[in-house]
Amino acid sequence: YKRVTVKSLIEMKKNGEKISMLTAYDYSMAKIVDAANVDVILVGDSASNVMAGHETTLPITLDQMIYHASSVIRAVNRALVVVDLPFGSYQSDPKEALRSAIRIMKESGGHAVKLEGGLEIKESVKRILNAGIPVMGHLGLTPQSIYKFGTYTVRAKEEEEAIKLKEDALMLEKAGCFAIVLEKIPATLAKEVAELVTIPVIGIGAGNGVDGQVLVVHDLVGLTQEFNPRFLRRYMNLYEEMGKAISDYVSDVKSRDFPSDDEQY
Ligand code: KIV
Ligand code: NA
Repeated sequence: YKRVTVKSLIEMKKNGEKISMLTAYDYSMAKIVDAANVDVILVGDSASNVMAGHETTLPITLDQMIYHASSVIRAVNRALVVVDLPFGSYQSDPKEALRSAIRIMKESGGHAVKLEGGLEIKESVKRILNAGIPVMGHLGLTPQSIYKFGTYTVRAKEEEEAIKLKEDALMLEKAGCFAIVLEKIPATLAKEVAELVTIPVIGIGAGNGVDGQVLVVHDLVGLTQEFNPRFLRRYMNLYEEMGKAISDYVSDVKSRDFPSDDEQY
């Protein structure tokens, strides 16, 4: 396998090759995602919702993110593995941000970290980058700030927020980030940002004018049911398929069909 690196992602943008990115939180799923040649695997703090059933991403801890990331790392041969710094592990000061990033790198073996925010976290981003740890930015809808926004609706529709977003993107590029995620903003604005910076811009609900796309893998395969935003394309309905298989198993146990003669010692 030729490993994907932060350098190869920047090359892909230069060559106009779109970047594919998906989440994974555990070994089994990461195996499938990596074998399907996804370029970047994100150990997202969306694990808080998807794996643990919380309503927001706020409760997940640094220790829990390290557990998820180390499980993913053991499965991956090709993809670049980016790990979210969870809420509370980097906002208080740059030194704590660096300590958290170092814990992720040392204890999980992840290849890079992702932080939400712009100017507010500039010093933390710089400190982490100075330690040689690659940083991915995340602007637009930033779910760790959900209680400030109030809703999960489209961000940066107003001029003022759009201007700040562009300034933040330029700052992240200048600081040395290798890529930026843009979540749930108008497609025209996302395209402008992708043209403004030389580092890859990876969108989720940010249209087709960016350098790559990211989705939560559980949404893509239809394991999650309640979450139905416009930007989500479901490629299968695994919730239904698995439900059928499992109820077949239950009937087979009840009817004594399972195990058969061939399925015992
Ligand atoms: O945690 C996550 O899954 C993310 C992506 C949606 C970008 O941050
Ligand atoms: Na996230």
